[in-house]
Amino acid sequence: MKVTVVGAGNVGATCADVLAYKEIANEIVLLDIKEGVAEGKALDIWQKAPIDLYDSRTVGVTNDYARTAGSDVVVITSGLPRKPGMSRDDLIGINAGIVKSVTENIIKHSPNCIIVVVSNPLDVMTYCAAITSKFPRQRVMGMAGILDTARYRAFLAEALNCSPKDIQAMLLGGHGDTMVPLPRYTTVSGIPVTELIEKDKLDAIVDRTINGGGELVKLMGTSAWYAPGSAAAQMVESIIRDQKRIFPVCIELQGEYGIKDCFLGVPVVLGRNGVERVIELKLNEEEKALLNISHGKVKEVMNVLDNMPATA
Ligand code: NAI
Ligand code: 2OP
Repeated sequence: MKVTVVGAGNVGATCADVLAYKEIANEIVLLDIKEGVAEGKALDIWQKAPIDLYDSRTVGVTNDYARTAGSDVVVITSGLPRKPGMSRDDLIGINAGIVKSVTENIIKHSPNCIIVVVSNPLDVMTYCAAITSKFPRQRVMGMAGILDTARYRAFLAEALNCSPKDIQAMLLGGHGDTMVPLPRYTTVSGIPVTELIEKDKLDAIVDRTINGGGELVKLMGTSAWYAPGSAAAQMVESIIRDQKRIFPVCIELQGEYGIKDCFLGVPVVLGRNGVERVIELKLNEEEKALLNISHGKVKEVMNVLDNMPATA
């Protein structure tokens, strides 16, 4: 199996490292436009193989898409990360051009690949890759929900003083201030979380999750990479190993949740064919209203992309 990761920056290099360490693919190509960066990072990951005992071959290239040919999965992380004071949506001007040109190059050499977008603003960059590739919806998806639920689960594990391994959670909507964490679908080893924590503490954790990306940008001056890189690798693993795991993933909704023609995070089954099934949860009125707000917000930014002459 062959995986390409485009963008050898913080998220891309971390993702390639996790893919290699877990031997998720036997060949991993890391590509960047900055001369030497992908080559150097891929070589460093390869030199770690005798220490950590893996045999996935990592190769770095500068803009050489021929070397990506025949990839089964392509992860797109190229683009600017946000700086303090910026929202993810502020990145659209630059990142839309990057994601469009990267997608065009990728599909020339890997016409049957599955695309996992990471670049921000996530939902709209996934839309950008979808309209550029014209792939069926099950082969173009975005990573955000695994990261957002991981933050939520980590905060809960801390508050409950228990293992993050035992916390299961689901989340809907766009990757931004309007994401919809779902306490009703959160359990700790099968126990509803609401039985283990007071409402005000849970509300504070939901709020911290929604602002989780911004918290890290404030601390580091750029956005996160360890959890995002691992989250993207987890999606690739479920696809390549046909695990059929259920994750929140950004995909084009075609009537599910009463929403059409919009890219939003929803629970899906991820297997060798990409998104094999969208799962429709029975939402209550409050959850429906929050999802509709998120839908409206993402649609607004999709319209911005539609009106950008260079990318539409
Ligand atoms: P970074 O700046 O460390 O790396 C980005 C890399 O993309 C750079 O090495 C740059 O040279 C490369 N690049 C730019 N244009 C390119 C092109 N045309 N072709 C190939 N490579 C190109 O940024 P970082 O931290 O890795 O973040 C990458 C993107 O992922 C950002 O847009 C960030 O906002 C997003 N992100 C999304 C998350 C999510 O949950 N979906 C989580 C974390 C980051
Ligand atoms: C995050 O949530 C910036 O989207 C990125 O960390």
